[in-house]
Amino acid sequence: MALYALGDTHLSLSAGKPMDVFGGAWENYMDKLARGLGVLTDDDTLVLCGDTSWAKSFPEARDDFAFLNAFPGRKLIVKGNHDYWWSTATKMRRFFAEEGFHTLDILHNNAWLHGDVALCGTRGWFYEEDNSHQGTHDEKVFLRECIRLKASLDAGRKLLGASAGDPGHPESGAGGGVGVGGADGNGVDGDGGMDGADGNGMDGDGGVGGAGGNGMDGDGDPDGELLAFLHYPPLYEGYRCDEIVDILTRYGVRRCFYGHLHGPSHQRAIEGAYRGIDYRLVSADYTEFRPFRIT
Ligand SMILES: [Fe+2]
Ligand SMILES: [Fe+2]
Repeated sequence: MALYALGDTHLSLSAGKPMDVFGGAWENYMDKLARGLGVLTDDDTLVLCGDTSWAKSFPEARDDFAFLNAFPGRKLIVKGNHDYWWSTATKMRRFFAEEGFHTLDILHNNAWLHGDVALCGTRGWFYEEDNSHQGTHDEKVFLRECIRLKASLDAGRKLLGASAGDPGHPESGAGGGVGVGGADGNGVDGDGGMDGADGNGMDGDGGVGGAGGNGMDGDGDPDGELLAFLHYPPLYEGYRCDEIVDILTRYGVRRCFYGHLHGPSHQRAIEGAYRGIDYRLVSADYTEFRPFRIT
């Protein structure tokens, strides 16, 4: 019952953008991925940390997901900046169900259990986003990502038996929780993890008070570990997203896995401990197309 993370598989079986054209590590990357994913067994969970497929639609993504689904084990998909096929949770799950992709689900405004570990995540934020609107900081998108991360961590806390609510925020109030998230049951069986956020994806963030307290004492800490999976690196040489790091810190996350960085950018990746959190880059071209084993 192993847990793995792998980012940036950039599958393109139908989208016409195979990564082999970049040469180097990407040459024959589908063969490498097939070998790498060959370690998976039925009880395993693999978190895919974004940029999973180049496809722009479900029909175009079908072959890519069929490729992933053919390997044993559950695969939970985090949104990357190139996942243009991404849609609402309901539509994605309907597509997976209709196609028989029963090993696939999403990690987005929700959380999942793997043993006594809660898997949480969202796309995250990177300074590149600042340049996407003529150099302006897209505050709305940024805040939405922070809310999504908190929603997922709240859902993770619930799965671990703790109350939702930002544990380090005195106004949050354990037991308040957010309108999104709400992973039902334990999500382990592959059909749980409902996120209730589909549609506009951001209708939640209720976060209203609750049982009072700050969540750090009265309601206790979760009985297990919260792991964070992001697409964008919260830390990078010369860059740090304080808001994301702060959220991870407040929720007691000790390990964070991220992707997005490729080729020469690997050299500027920051790994290891920073403010009590261990960061790992798991982009496929960094891990030699092998899933990074976490547990
Ligand atoms: Fe990527
Ligand atoms: Fe990316």
